Amino acid sequence: MTNQRNAQNHTHYDVVIIGAGASGLYCALTAGRRGRRVLVLDHANKAGKKILMSGGGRCNFTNYFVEPEHFIGANPHFCKSALSRYPSWEFIGMVESHKIAYHEREHGQLFCDDSAQDILSMLLDECTAVGVQVKLNAQIDHVKTAAHDNGERFYLTTSKKLGKKDIANGTQSSQTGYSCESLVIATGGLSIPTMGASGIGYELAQQFGHTLVPTDASLVPFTFTDKTGELIRALAGISLPVIASNERISFKLPVLFTHRGLSGPAMLQLSNYWQTGETISINLLPEIDVTELLLARKKSHPRQLIRTVLAENTDNALPKKLLAALQTHLWEDIKDTELANIKDERLTELGATLNGWQLKPSGTEGYRTAEVTRGGVTTDEVSSKTMQSNLQNGLYFIGEVLDVTGWLGGYNFQWAWASGFVSGEIV
Ligand code: FDA
Repeated sequence: MTNQRNAQNHTHYDVVIIGAGASGLYCALTAGRRGRRVLVLDHANKAGKKILMSGGGRCNFTNYFVEPEHFIGANPHFCKSALSRYPSWEFIGMVESHKIAYHEREHGQLFCDDSAQDILSMLLDECTAVGVQVKLNAQIDHVKTAAHDNGERFYLTTSKKLGKKDIANGTQSSQTGYSCESLVIATGGLSIPTMGASGIGYELAQQFGHTLVPTDASLVPFTFTDKTGELIRALAGISLPVIASNERISFKLPVLFTHRGLSGPAMLQLSNYWQTGETISINLLPEIDVTELLLARKKSHPRQLIRTVLAENTDNALPKKLLAALQTHLWEDIKDTELANIKDERLTELGATLNGWQLKPSGTEGYRTAEVTRGGVTTDEVSSKTMQSNLQNGLYFIGEVLDVTGWLGGYNFQWAWASGFVSGEIV
């Protein structure tokens, strides 16, 4: 496959994709299969770094049950077309054809048996098989358009991103130019800057007149600064099934107390729907109506203590350390008082708290640990069928850079594959 150099000394490709992550690689292999000459540029020293760190190193690469309801964004309908044209079994088929062993975990989540590296190798092998070129350490200096024949082309200038060794050796970075008919922005979000995340996708979108939905860290643990924060930190390591909710949504999943705040699937899922300053509610005993239980015990076992009743519920019992801490926090003054001597109102109030602990997070851990970035390129300005910009012919946005955010559970990768596929079919 030969690449032409044009008059301005830019090497020409049909398609240039910025970002060798999940969506960029999937778009590349799809376009490559159609015989398009494809170049993928990435400033990182390795392709697919987030794939490698995903799912605790085993990559939760998709989910058996993918519905538009598993995604958020200003336009909830935007994701429908791509997700229906590229359902999860398409990706599962590719995984199986590469003989990658995988397993299902709860809620239809699919993980590699062995390593996330299997998924990355599969994508890179598929790219190589169809002649896709991947250039790493490529810093994008600028992108512009210029008239060509009867249309327009994109012209990109890149320079080699110098590593520490290069700088120590006094290596100079030289610029390289590329031109293309189709330019795909697959640069992901802002989460985990140490893994190569940058805001370039948003900057390029704005350069071409696109608007952005404000971005925020999402699928991220909550932090707390007040007394509740102290209580939570003291319980670090404890995990239990809860119902976590706000006014709009509930998730029945485990919560994890950490040294920084509250994490675990319940909290990460809720963070997708959380606005700064909002109170969240945690039902610590979702299988029990605690008020009903305490009032019934007051009648049947009036000499019992609250902690005895709560510790007795063996199947649903709160972890001992949590129970002791909650006692100090919520009913220290009546901890040794028999139920018979506690007013019904107080038991009712306590039951309501345990079935709906109201907490006001001070914030989240932010982009440092967030799995995704919420918000991004406004989907109203992009075709939901092709991912092409409505404002600039030949420009495409795919994956997380768009205002489409999935739930925890393989949905964000499924969006990356699906948006990569539909764009790859047309670029
Ligand atoms: P992605 O981030 O994959 O790729 C963007 C690429 O653009 C990167 O290679 C980056 O280096 C490159 N880039 C950025 N700026 C650039 C610049 N200035 N110049 C050139 N290149 C640039 N999802 C899921 O479904 N299941 C899971 O198990 C997990 N697990 C998980 C764990 C952790 C720790 C994180 C951080 C995230 C996940 N995710 C996940 C989310 C998932 O990784 C994410 O949604 C997809 O990788 C998004 O794919 P994209 O292609 O949009 O971006």
